[in-house]
Amino acid sequence: MGEGPESILIVDFGSQYTQLIARRIREAGVWCEVIPPGGARNAFDRMGPRGIVLSGGPASVRDEGAPGTDEALLGEGVPVLGICYGLQWMTAVLGGEVVPGTEREYGRSEMTVADSGALLDGVAACSVAWMSHGDRVETLAPGWRLLARSEDCPVAAAGDEDARLFGLQFHPEVTHTAQGRQVLANFLGPICGCAGDWKVAGLIEGKVQAIRDQVGDSGEILLGLSGGVDSSVAALLMHRAVGGRLHCVFVDNGLLRKGERDEVESTFGSASGFGLDLTVVDASERFLDELHQVDDPEAKRKIIGRVFVEVFQEEAQRFDAAHFLGQGTLYPDVIESESYFGGPSAVIKSHHNVGGLPDSLGMALVEPLRDLFKDEVRELGRALDLPEHLVSRQPFPGPGLAVRHPGALTRGSLEHLREADAIVREEIHAAGLAEQLWQFFVVLLPVRSVGVMGDARTFERACSVRMVKSTDAMTADWFIPEPDVVQRIATRIVNEVPGINRVLWDVTSKPPGTIEWE
Ligand code: XMP
Repeated sequence: MGEGPESILIVDFGSQYTQLIARRIREAGVWCEVIPPGGARNAFDRMGPRGIVLSGGPASVRDEGAPGTDEALLGEGVPVLGICYGLQWMTAVLGGEVVPGTEREYGRSEMTVADSGALLDGVAACSVAWMSHGDRVETLAPGWRLLARSEDCPVAAAGDEDARLFGLQFHPEVTHTAQGRQVLANFLGPICGCAGDWKVAGLIEGKVQAIRDQVGDSGEILLGLSGGVDSSVAALLMHRAVGGRLHCVFVDNGLLRKGERDEVESTFGSASGFGLDLTVVDASERFLDELHQVDDPEAKRKIIGRVFVEVFQEEAQRFDAAHFLGQGTLYPDVIESESYFGGPSAVIKSHHNVGGLPDSLGMALVEPLRDLFKDEVRELGRALDLPEHLVSRQPFPGPGLAVRHPGALTRGSLEHLREADAIVREEIHAAGLAEQLWQFFVVLLPVRSVGVMGDARTFERACSVRMVKSTDAMTADWFIPEPDVVQRIATRIVNEVPGINRVLWDVTSKPPGTIEWE
């Protein structure tokens, strides 16, 4: 058992579910880190973990050059749980046999417990487990015994309790696995001996100290504050660490939502309770001039990204004593860039946010959130007294309203979009629906239609309302509230927003749609 703080080392073999494993373990109150296979030994020595989880992955252990990690980790006496590929790798290394499945088993499967042991303690004799594999274990490694089987898979769970090695062919981290949390809890508690009392708020002092250690007694930090939860929480941590040596820059690009700039100023500015050194740069004219008559989505994104960097760079010159650049980078980005298959997937949209500043600024990065997931950042925000409406604020893309306005922007049409968006936000909050939605907003369409108001003919634009439910923005389901809420939204937009006379509703999920229109 490790001597350090209670932690679990997750070795990432490239599964699409690896981040989910980490989130489940942290939700269970245990700190964990995701490490690529080649870094596992070093991480083990550094962390002294209570247990190791070997993730799934797309490879086959029968392939030449199949990924593996330091085999000696299996003999350290620290419990190991192999999931899917992790189980297959352990089986192959320890002398069992892995064969190609006769059929790929994918999705829900009925699992039957043969012999629960410590790992499946409290799991029903029959329950649903989520499978996603081609290969399967044919012969267990010596010393291992069968714990559960499924319809198409003779070995759904197995283990060697004396050696403290366990494996699951199914995915306990996926919510479709009915008792996945129970299985993980059994591994973390009784098997690894974790108390499960880790809390994100407990990280504050350590993070504040780490920032002080990094920047020293006189170092100054420059931070692009967008008002989103990541940069806000990063700012509050840095402010606690270095006080007035943190300089925040908020760029008004003219593409913000109604009231957003005032809100950031009144929450964080020098006259606010937080009292940050905040510079608000009104660059709206510059952005809108550069976007004049541009209607290609990618061209718009590129212009906005470029102008943002230019504006920020100019501001940075005013803070020439600042050699550190604060960023609200989160753990999913870190895992992705360091992952087994690290590197970008196909570019659907060139994302832009205030974290995307270039190396050419020549500043050292301060990234206090780089080991945290979004929900943990929110929790940290609450512990740092960030107001709840900012903690739970819906995501807003860096290019702002521009990606919700197909076609070329004009100041007038942006204003219409801004007003319609504010109505949707107001009504959704009033209906108490904000918490269950990932995003809710308006897209102004480059389409005009005929209407009648009073006795007069109108010929104005249509807009589309978009509401989605999601947990991570990778996939999303469309949402329509009760008819009375829909009615109020549509009536208010048409009555109150000049320039819009028709309201449509977007019922496209992601995939095949994306959440934003551009
Ligand atoms: P899509 O439209 O790709 O969006 O389904 C997924 C999520 O990302 C947000 N989004 C962005 N966030 N900079 C950001 O910081 C961007 O350029 C950007 N583009 C999209 C979007 O709002 C959704 O939550």
